[in-house]
Amino acid sequence: MKEYFFIFSIFLFLIFQPVSVNADTKKQAEKGSVGASVSANLTEQLRKGKEKVQVLCSACHGLDGVAASGGNSVIVPNLTAQHKDYLIAKLKDYKSGKINHPQMTLIAQMLTDEEIEYVSEWYSRIKIQIFDPNLVLSKPSE
Ligand code: HEC
Repeated sequence: MKEYFFIFSIFLFLIFQPVSVNADTKKQAEKGSVGASVSANLTEQLRKGKEKVQVLCSACHGLDGVAASGGNSVIVPNLTAQHKDYLIAKLKDYKSGKINHPQMTLIAQMLTDEEIEYVSEWYSRIKIQIFDPNLVLSKPSE
């Protein structure tokens, strides 16, 4: 009897798992936020990019590419929806020393060319919405 209950619980777990993931994804899509734990709809490249960004970039640039308060510099650029080729070019310039920056040069040197591709794919693929400042004013920058 106990065994049946156990097997039945596993069965229920397997059935309801995808439903709850989809519900989370949907909730986040409605809010327009990037969730750290949900990666169900991502391609292999995006999943790897997200994982790398979470570990190495999010403290300063945010997981969603909106600059966070981490790091020593107050001038951390937003990366959300930036062109992929632009991000790749910048990261390679930091890595090669063509652009020298105390934080970004070190960080770019920790990335392989493949990882540069993945993190650039991640930040470039986050969708944003544009509002005409005549109609909707953004918050003043601090
Ligand atoms: C310690 C904070 C910090 C971390 C961590 C960090 N960055 Fe940066 N990043 C900066 C700052 C500050 C700048 C502006 C540097 C400059 O003025 O050249 C910058 C600039 C950049 C730029 C150039 C943007 C532009 O428009 O010129 C890219 C691309 C970038 N970062 C990507 C990344 C990625 C990808 C990661 C993770 C692998 C990362 N950064 C991690 C602080 C950080």
